[in-house]
Amino acid sequence: MSSSLKAFVTGYPVRHSRSPMIHRYWLEKFKIDGTYERLEISPEEFPGFMQDLASGSTDFVGGNVTIPHKQAAFEHATRADRLASELGAANTLWVEDGRVMATNTDGYGFAANLDDAAPGWDSEKTAVILGAGGASRAVVQIIQNRGFSRILVINRTVARAREIADHFGGNIQAHGLDELGDVLDGAGLFVNTTSLGMGGQDVPDIDFSPMTRHAIVTDIVYTPLVTPIMAMADSQGFKTVDGLGMLLHQAVPGFEKWFGVRPDVTADLRQLIVADLENRT
Ligand code: ATR
Repeated sequence: MSSSLKAFVTGYPVRHSRSPMIHRYWLEKFKIDGTYERLEISPEEFPGFMQDLASGSTDFVGGNVTIPHKQAAFEHATRADRLASELGAANTLWVEDGRVMATNTDGYGFAANLDDAAPGWDSEKTAVILGAGGASRAVVQIIQNRGFSRILVINRTVARAREIADHFGGNIQAHGLDELGDVLDGAGLFVNTTSLGMGGQDVPDIDFSPMTRHAIVTDIVYTPLVTPIMAMADSQGFKTVDGLGMLLHQAVPGFEKWFGVRPDVTADLRQLIVADLENRT
């Protein structure tokens, strides 16, 4: 057995994942004898992979899990922490004494990105979240933990927004997309978690002016770096934060677990990924 520490990212497909670039950058920077590889694993094979992880036959110290395995990773882990349990989904695994441990660092990444790019963002009270998928849940969870007292989830399929409201409790309201224009009053944070506008389809005009003066508009999509919704907010004079920082920050806790060093998200690392996005998209 080699002494090199081995970590992975698995998805299906997984070739688009930028996680290897991030972790390999840190491995090199800290001169750690470790590897981080892509593993394409089908949904059918995934439970078996989780068993192999626990038994130690794979030799991995842990890894990241992306679409479509986040729920299955939570279900098949030996133990999940509170963050993953509340979401019913895990994106980070590590092996400990024959057990596979699971957490979810998406919410951490979201908040750490705003802490970096827009300090004080969490002094606001009201947030509007567009979308009601897995990413929306992670955002709702962290902003509730950060003390937002009113959270409005807006979704095309309003039933999915209601599920989130029911799941996370009292201070969350669900609305349909047609109500978007009416719910921005007094909001200090707007988060897009949908792919709206990415496929070239029309994005509805959004008038952000009812939001607070220092409100922030952010997107968790980072291809393109400036999304149509961010461009709209920017042209109306609002501060915007792109979603690439969330990808970079969500990687920090996993790297620390597997390789024992807490890495920084630096301008250099960001530039490396920006250059790759420009080449590949
Ligand atoms: P993820 O887990 O990445 O958040 P998801 O579960 O597929 O992905 O959720 C995607 C979100 O984008 C949903 O809120 C979806 O709305 P529906 O629940 O109504 O499907 C939203 N979405 C995707 N395309 C959209 C579009 N063209 N218009 C409006 N909302 C859209």
